[in-house]
Amino acid sequence: MGAARGKPLRIAAGYGMLARMRGPAAAALTDLEREIDAPGAGLDRLRLVRTPFVPEVRLHLAEDAIVWWARMEAAAGHSLPPPYWASAWAGGQALARHLLDHPRLAAGRRVLDLAAGSGLVAIAAALTGAARVVANDIDPYAVAAVTVNARANGVAVATSVDDLLDSDGGDADLLVAGDVFYDRELAGRVLPFLRRAVARGGQVLVGDPGRNHLPRDSLDVVTSYRVPTTEPSVDSPLRRVEVLRPAGDTAGLG
Ligand SMILES: C[S@@+](CC[C@H](N)C(=O)[O-])C[C@H]1O[C@@H](n2cnc3c(N)ncnc32)[C@H](O)[C@@H]1O
Repeated sequence: MGAARGKPLRIAAGYGMLARMRGPAAAALTDLEREIDAPGAGLDRLRLVRTPFVPEVRLHLAEDAIVWWARMEAAAGHSLPPPYWASAWAGGQALARHLLDHPRLAAGRRVLDLAAGSGLVAIAAALTGAARVVANDIDPYAVAAVTVNARANGVAVATSVDDLLDSDGGDADLLVAGDVFYDRELAGRVLPFLRRAVARGGQVLVGDPGRNHLPRDSLDVVTSYRVPTTEPSVDSPLRRVEVLRPAGDTAGLG
């Protein structure tokens, strides 16, 4: 389980120091590098693409994440975690856009991207000149994806595959979390985590398109964006996504 309160986060070194990645994350990195280098196109492939709402950042995304997942599971012969990292989520896109448009939020600061997925928000923070960026996700493939995506964008992002949700985020000045309120159990742990981070002086920003378990009463809206989404939508390809902060936390507004 995760880091204890107030203790530094256990992190793997970022871009250019990949040899320090160990265990399942290192194996996942080998898999992803092989996938990226494999010739061919099709629904079951990864492609390096510009993120629709954040064209400054390129990501290795699946043409169709479900099809890619099925092929990888068949090849592995066992189940794999859902490849959330292989899609650009609406919440992460809004948060990354907000950081890039308000560079003072991350510049010169220590940033922790919680549940980083592809690493989109972490990479945006690094592009605006953060002093240090750590991308945390419990999925080893996500940590591997952060590594290849940081490399593709030429920025340094360290990674952590530990579950940090019982900690207070260590010494991070800014904690960012894109699209983390889609699951009841996860949401029930994220809010106390973010509150502990605020209580020790950290600043928190969340990006969310109105997921089922968003604790709206505990958060204030900072701004909202209309974000292009690939999710099924009845009447609009754009989704309203809010950037929020814990209620009462007014520190460091960009
Ligand atoms: C919907 S994705 C969002 C990814 C990214 N933040 C974005 O906006 O594109 C949710 C991510 O949460 C991660 N996750 C789930 N439980 C977690 C935990 N306890 N700690 C860290 N990450 C977790 C998943 O592996 C997944 O990558």
